[in-house]
Amino acid sequence: REFRINIAIDGPAGAGKSTVARKVAKALSYVYVDTGAMYRAVTWDMLNLGIEAENEQEVLARMESLEIELIPGEDGQRVRLSGQDVTDDIRSLAVTRTVSRYAQIEGLRAELSSAQRQMALRKGVVMDGRDIGTTVLPDAEVKIFMTATVEERARRRFRELPESGESITLEQLEREIADRDELDRNREVSPLVCAEDATVLDTTRMTIEEVSDAIVRLAERQLTRQG
Ligand code: CDP
Ligand code: CDP
Repeated sequence: REFRINIAIDGPAGAGKSTVARKVAKALSYVYVDTGAMYRAVTWDMLNLGIEAENEQEVLARMESLEIELIPGEDGQRVRLSGQDVTDDIRSLAVTRTVSRYAQIEGLRAELSSAQRQMALRKGVVMDGRDIGTTVLPDAEVKIFMTATVEERARRRFRELPESGESITLEQLEREIADRDELDRNREVSPLVCAEDATVLDTTRMTIEEVSDAIVRLAERQLTRQG
């Protein structure tokens, strides 16, 4: 099909955004862009260098020498930071626990948002994050705000944890997710909010297939209307 649209998917941690966005992108032969990975890559670098989020000037100076590449692949997106593959490293608990503090920095957000906009210029993008429908792609043809109860989101994340390695209890995980949501919802620059024209999907009792089918249907409807 010649005509293409952009799909924006926002919501809190564990709502199912990335899993579903990947499926929707596959179904439509679109490109999946995980914007959280960019915030995570920057955070991973700052933690390595010991640059704290409070030190905004140093963060922004360091940002200038960083090159973030998102490489679409068969089973999801690879992330490269100044040439190094950091796809797995950026999922660590250390990064997860601090990323929302770095994500509050206005200059950092401005830079990442503009890079994200560039990636969507040619359309045919399914992009997930926190501020895609509100700030990054306010003109996206389909906007989804995905939610689920914090208990369900914590359970989903808990099931994902590797048997060995980093250990954390379900209760602790739930508290950390709630804390991160709160920081994301209450920050001054492009907080996590539902865009006025977004479709809200509460996925608490939905399967991955049900959620992605619903989004593909919304996309198909837009494509027929506009194409
Ligand atoms: O996958 P998970 O839901 O754990 O989070 P993520 O999508 O990887 O995003 C990690 C963090 O990056 C979020 O908690 C936000 O603080 C920040 N983020 C953001 O501020 N804006 C975005 N568009 C995407 C992520
Ligand atoms: O990207 P986000 O943080 O919103 O969530 P995710 O990483 O896509 O999903 C978190 C986990 O929940 C994954 O292991 C999904 O397989 C699972 N999930 C689910 O069980 N039911 C859904 N309707 C959506 C996701």
